[in-house]
Amino acid sequence: MKILLINGPNINLLGLREPDIYGRQDYAALLRFIEESAAELGLQVTCFQSNHEGEIVEAIQKAYGVYDAIVINPAAYTHSSIAILDALKAVALPAVEVHLSDVSAREDFRQISYAGMACLKTYMGQGFAGYRQALCFLKDYLSAS
Ligand code: DQA
Repeated sequence: MKILLINGPNINLLGLREPDIYGRQDYAALLRFIEESAAELGLQVTCFQSNHEGEIVEAIQKAYGVYDAIVINPAAYTHSSIAILDALKAVALPAVEVHLSDVSAREDFRQISYAGMACLKTYMGQGFAGYRQALCFLKDYLSAS
C-alpha cells in the first residue's frame, strides 16, 4: 500500500513555530515518527511538504495512478483552498485530514475545512499521533476495499 503524506505551509517550522500549540519537536522528528509508523504498519509512505498551494495541488494530481491513498495536513490552506479540495475530488483517492492542534477549539476562521470535505476522516489535536491514526485508518480501509 502506497500512501502520499502531504504537509502544507509552515509545517517545516515545527519546533520553532508557536510551540505551545504545535509542540517542541521539529519537522525532522515528525518525518522520523512517520517513517517508524509506516514501518510498523507495513506501509510505503512518501512525505511531501510545501509552502505553496499550487505545488500541493500538483502533488495531489501526480498521486493519481501512483499512490493508493493520501494523508494531508493542508495547514492554513485547510481554511482557504478550494483548489486543494478540487484536486482531492478530482483524483478521488481515499484521503484523511490531519491537524496537529485541535482546530475545533481555535479561532472562528479555522472552523471551516475545505480539504476536509473530500476526506473520509479527520484527526485533530493529537499532535504527531494523529498522522499514525490516519495511516492506521487507511491501512484498514484499503485492506477492506
Ligand atoms: C494546522 C492548523 C491550521 O489552522 C494552521 O493554519 C496550521 C496547522 C494544524 O496542524 O494544527 O498551520 O493544520
